[in-house]
Amino acid sequence: MTPQTDPQAGAAVKAADRAHVFHSWSAQELIDPLAVAGAEGSYFWDYDGNRYLDFTSGLVFTNIGYQHPKVVAAIQEQAATLTTFAPAFAVESRSEAARLIAERTPGDLDKIFFTNGGADAIEHAVRMARIHTGRPKVLSAYRSYHGGTQQAVNITGDPRRWPSDSGSAGVVHFWAPFLYRSRFYAETEQQECERALEHLETTIAFEGPGTIAAIVLETIPGTAGIMVPPRGYLAGVRELCDKYGIVFVLDEVMAGFGRTGEWFAADLFEVTPDLMTFAKGVNSGYVPLGGVAISGKIAETFGKRPYPGGLTYSGHPLACAAAVATINVMAEEGVVANAAVVGAQVIEPGLRELARRHPSVGEVRGVGMFWALELVKNRETREPLVPYNAAGEANAPMAAFGAAAKANGLWPFINMNRTHVVPPCTITEAEAKEGLAALDAALSAADEYTQ
Ligand SMILES: Cc1ncc(COP(=O)(O)O)c(C=O)c1O
Repeated sequence: MTPQTDPQAGAAVKAADRAHVFHSWSAQELIDPLAVAGAEGSYFWDYDGNRYLDFTSGLVFTNIGYQHPKVVAAIQEQAATLTTFAPAFAVESRSEAARLIAERTPGDLDKIFFTNGGADAIEHAVRMARIHTGRPKVLSAYRSYHGGTQQAVNITGDPRRWPSDSGSAGVVHFWAPFLYRSRFYAETEQQECERALEHLETTIAFEGPGTIAAIVLETIPGTAGIMVPPRGYLAGVRELCDKYGIVFVLDEVMAGFGRTGEWFAADLFEVTPDLMTFAKGVNSGYVPLGGVAISGKIAETFGKRPYPGGLTYSGHPLACAAAVATINVMAEEGVVANAAVVGAQVIEPGLRELARRHPSVGEVRGVGMFWALELVKNRETREPLVPYNAAGEANAPMAAFGAAAKANGLWPFINMNRTHVVPPCTITEAEAKEGLAALDAALSAADEYTQ
């Protein structure tokens, strides 16, 4: 795992990237992507001999770390046996992946529609809900991310929606609970929960219950800030959905497959949605794969009537073989329990200790291997360290934090005024401590901007 230095090769990779690769969500001339030479477990490295502990799990998908030998071998074996096959056939790796997923999803979410990733899983979940109910609208939360395709980005509640929001997607946004920045003037979790549910029911009433096909929520909002909902909130949403005949869609694309120390975040709250989307951790992102887990009653809607949707690569054998191997590795190696234990015994106390010493930390929140630090200018006023959606000079404090983390060998997840601690669920206690020490140094850089 010692990185070999080869700056010339790195320069060639970088040059071709800069000449020809068009990157996601970016002003192409303003970015400077790191050329990556390799990765293993919780680390990756560049061509200049710099190694980084990855506290981002890529984009929160390498739940079993990089290059797990059993999953790499399963992909190689599947490639040698049957690399690809059309979706209309029954194929061993697809059948087995669906069986293993259905075995773990809550309640009767027993039918699996495979997609290529998370956004298209959301697209299909919404299409199923609209046809099942015969209603047009979708309710979703501000402070959410559901993907980059047209419908999914309109359901999203962050600034990435704005440039693509035609205003005609049939989506209405509401406020989900978030006590630290309460929209409801709440002072306790219970107040926040009750008032957020009341706000949601009022939104439903004023939108017209008979017009709403689905409520789409991340079980724990991820990119938007890892706001663990108060006890009772999701159960309350479930009740509202039942009362008004609305399909409840939980998006577990980021929170699923071990991230929270449970197979699914829904297990933490003992709630069963009607549809559940997944991607990322299902095969640790080794080969693109996502999907929708479908309840009995929605599956029934499409029993005799065709489901009007599909993908050339739905249930791609290579991606499904990676899912089978990943799920088996997670079960055999206790990866979900590791996320819970290292999260509770090392990450959480470590982050709380950092918060005590660093005035830039406004709040620590999360569960399992899914944590956020809310960075603020001032703890009393809770003013964010950088303004909402800041860019350029206005974002200097977070840029300084990021640079200090990297200088200390840590690759941090940064979104607006937050850093998320989302390493692989396989992380060891020693690696977690190494990351916390680097965070300590990086937070000192952020402290410089506090008032
Ligand atoms: C909760 C959630 N839903 C959907 C998506 C979209 O997934 P993908 O990028 O695979 O389309 C993401 C991606 O970050 C996500 O976090």
